[in-house]
Amino acid sequence: MSDKMEVYYFSPTGGTKKVSDIFAAAVGKDVVWHDLGDKQMLTEQPQGELIIVTAPVFAGRIPSVVREKIKTLAGEGKKAVTIAVYGNRAYEDALLEMNDILKQAGFTVIAAAAFVAQHSIVPEVGTGRPDAEDIKEIRAFAEAVKNSTSAENIHVPGNRPYKPEMKVAAAPLSLSSCTACGVCAKICPTDAIAAAEGKMVTDVSKCILCMACVHACPLQARILPPPLQEKTDNMLAAFRDIRNKNEVFF
Ligand SMILES: Cc1cc2nc3c(=O)[nH]c(=O)nc-3n(C[C@H](O)[C@H](O)[C@H](O)COP(=O)(O)O)c2cc1C
Repeated sequence: MSDKMEVYYFSPTGGTKKVSDIFAAAVGKDVVWHDLGDKQMLTEQPQGELIIVTAPVFAGRIPSVVREKIKTLAGEGKKAVTIAVYGNRAYEDALLEMNDILKQAGFTVIAAAAFVAQHSIVPEVGTGRPDAEDIKEIRAFAEAVKNSTSAENIHVPGNRPYKPEMKVAAAPLSLSSCTACGVCAKICPTDAIAAAEGKMVTDVSKCILCMACVHACPLQARILPPPLQEKTDNMLAAFRDIRNKNEVFF
């Protein structure tokens, strides 16, 4: 394996990046990072023989921005490793979807993993993860990837057709404490937020509910609409007190 590795990641609230950093440090190669949350499409093709794709799980799938961008990668003769990062509920079809897209693009997917990070909408779920136990497991996965000589596609759980994509009925909103500084508009991966008459306005039809704007707001002036937050809190209540597991596939 060459000394370079390219990591394509999407991490609107930092959990996926945390997992990616632990993994990349343990592999110990020079890393070229590609942030799939950047507004522009990918312009360059991967150079090395191995790419890593890491994505958060959204409603059992991968976010549309990840899907649209990784489709454009040319993978002929290259290997890929996929990592789905989920919020302690379930990852369902996310790994399968990611692997299908990469295989279609010509990559051989030699390994995959699902790791848990804190839930980005309900932080009481998966709180503090990845924790020390997770870090050990992420490092062990990295070590196994580093030593792998496989040239075969792996099988991962999931169903086809995939779960229907999440419908976004309401987007995060700005509170009256918002100063329209524009940080949210700048970070939004789908350009759903714009300033209008001194206020930040969100286009629900573009929003993917990734929570990047809520996470980035320096004044904590972005929130989910309270009914949606409450509905999600209730939906995930059963996952507060359980510890869901990490899974690896070779
Ligand atoms: C819109 C949305 C949908 C989500 N759906 C799921 C899910 O189906 N299963 C799950 O376990 N976690 C789910 N999560 C939690 C995220 O997958 C998890 O918190 C992940 O670590 C977020 O990555 P990030 O911190 O890089 O943004 C969801 C989060 C969001 C924002």
